[in-house]
Amino acid sequence: MTDRYGVVGHPVAHSKSPFIHAKFAAQTSQDLVYEAIHVQPGGFAAAVEAFRAGGGRGLNVTLPFKQEAFVRSQTVSDRARRAGAVNTLSFDDERVRGDNTDGVGLVRDLVSNLGIEIRSLRVLLIGAGGAARGVLGPLLDEGPSELVVANRTVSRAESLCHAFSGQGTVRSAGFDALEGSAFDLVINATSAELSGEVPPVPESALARDAVVYDMMYAATATAFVRWGQSAGARLAADGLGMLVEQAAESFFIWRGTRPETLPVLKAVRESL
Ligand code: ATR
Repeated sequence: MTDRYGVVGHPVAHSKSPFIHAKFAAQTSQDLVYEAIHVQPGGFAAAVEAFRAGGGRGLNVTLPFKQEAFVRSQTVSDRARRAGAVNTLSFDDERVRGDNTDGVGLVRDLVSNLGIEIRSLRVLLIGAGGAARGVLGPLLDEGPSELVVANRTVSRAESLCHAFSGQGTVRSAGFDALEGSAFDLVINATSAELSGEVPPVPESALARDAVVYDMMYAATATAFVRWGQSAGARLAADGLGMLVEQAAESFFIWRGTRPETLPVLKAVRESL
């Protein structure tokens, strides 16, 4: 029987997840379908229940429902608890199981696809919203020599760092304090791109040979990727690889098999 999966979000029409999961299914000969399901704010719980009652096996959850998915999951993984958010729901047990694959997706893209050894790097994470929180734990697990969270509203960065204080060395900063600080890896987890903006990180915050990573992606270089290139970064990458890697981890949770991600990343890049 064909198993049903999907992604719920608002908006969701332009999601690349159906394309990615169809490629994973074909590659691993899994009999499944994966659809994009648009849900209005306020309609999340009913939409999930209807999907599950109709025999659906699992859902990805995207903005703005990841926190609600966390609250409504009956059991959650450790990594979802740390993120305070769920992007992967499984319905195979009696209880709805929530997991979060965003952080591992980012780390795999950096380490496996881009060849960046995070251990002992000085890392700057920009942003203190849900996207930043979702990746902070897995980044700390990699053992960077320094991890700084910078945010426009410094108090949000402070409370995020406080929440992770037992899990590694992480401190908060405002953008002004970054002058001359020389980070090896700078990750943009803000939503500034959506308004065509770049967070005001001083160029002097980049070390020589720094890598710049934007968790957003687009058909052409994002504003932050362009900023990294002009600031002299050795490499400036967007978040399409993270998208494919988090999808692969969800696929693994559901199907117990790991798809090869690089051919799918190439295909989704060409489809943009
Ligand atoms: P998400 O779940 O995508 O992280 P969010 O919780 O609304 O969404 O957080 C958005 C993040 O992008 C925040 O860190 C926000 O900074 P503030 O906390 O100061 O609002 C950041 N952000 C959005 N637009 C920005 C801009 N133009 N410049 C710098 N940071 C921006």
